[in-house]
Amino acid sequence: MRRLTVPAIRQRKMNGKVEEPIVMLTAYTARQAQLLDSHCDILLVGDSLGQVIYGLPSTLPVTVDMMIAHGAAVVRGSYHSVVVVDMPFGSYEASPQRAFENASRIMEATGAAAVKLEGGEVMAETVAFLVQRGIPVVGHVGLTPQAVNVLGGYGARGRDEAEAEKIMQDAQALDEAGAFAIVLEGVLEPIAIAVTQALSCPVIGIGASAQCDGQVIVAEDMLGMFERVPRFVKRYGNMAEAISQAAEQYAREVRDRSFPGPDQTYQPK
Ligand code: KIV
Ligand code: NA
Repeated sequence: MRRLTVPAIRQRKMNGKVEEPIVMLTAYTARQAQLLDSHCDILLVGDSLGQVIYGLPSTLPVTVDMMIAHGAAVVRGSYHSVVVVDMPFGSYEASPQRAFENASRIMEATGAAAVKLEGGEVMAETVAFLVQRGIPVVGHVGLTPQAVNVLGGYGARGRDEAEAEKIMQDAQALDEAGAFAIVLEGVLEPIAIAVTQALSCPVIGIGASAQCDGQVIVAEDMLGMFERVPRFVKRYGNMAEAISQAAEQYAREVRDRSFPGPDQTYQPK
């Protein structure tokens, strides 16, 4: 199976509609990518790895080098999905040139097909700059976690008319700038539906609406790795319990010397 391409994803939305919603999950490691790849259209190496893998308090301290290490692992672990790597906070906002330098480094070092960056109208020039120079871009509007200090938290966006209108303008600006898809996070459902209908490129929702052109979620959240998850997460597994049960049994068997057993030890012939 040949790897899906960015144009193939973009063309899933024709005349304002997708036939089959786009399936996107985050992945940070090679093994995780191997397990998720055949089920997805896009694997996102999200800067959420800051919290999920590194225990950081937000995505802000995540670096380009961290994104490169995990991006390369996910590309090595997948052969079907389009791999998109998040541009971390501080690596793209200052200018289109800075963004190109960091995005091209990420593309070269990982083999990923595209990058994602946060921000609407203010980033439109940068998105066009990258796309025109060979770097496909996914936009990200609505609740943008890198702006948590400006937004004041991770609550849903678009609760007043002005903010709802701004989200629409931001999404449209990125669409016109040439983003091949846009992640729309944490917005009231009517806004998600309106944006999905208004944009020519696919709108991929997270905490948005089932009527979006696709969905994305943090894999560890849907796998049940955490006690506390955002309201928009549905748990499809209970990895936390499976892991602690396995560790509990291992610890018990080490302590009572029943591990390693005959199957796990080497004897002289
Ligand atoms: O970093 C991330 O995982 C993301 C998705 C949740 C969209 O940006
Ligand atoms: Na992100």
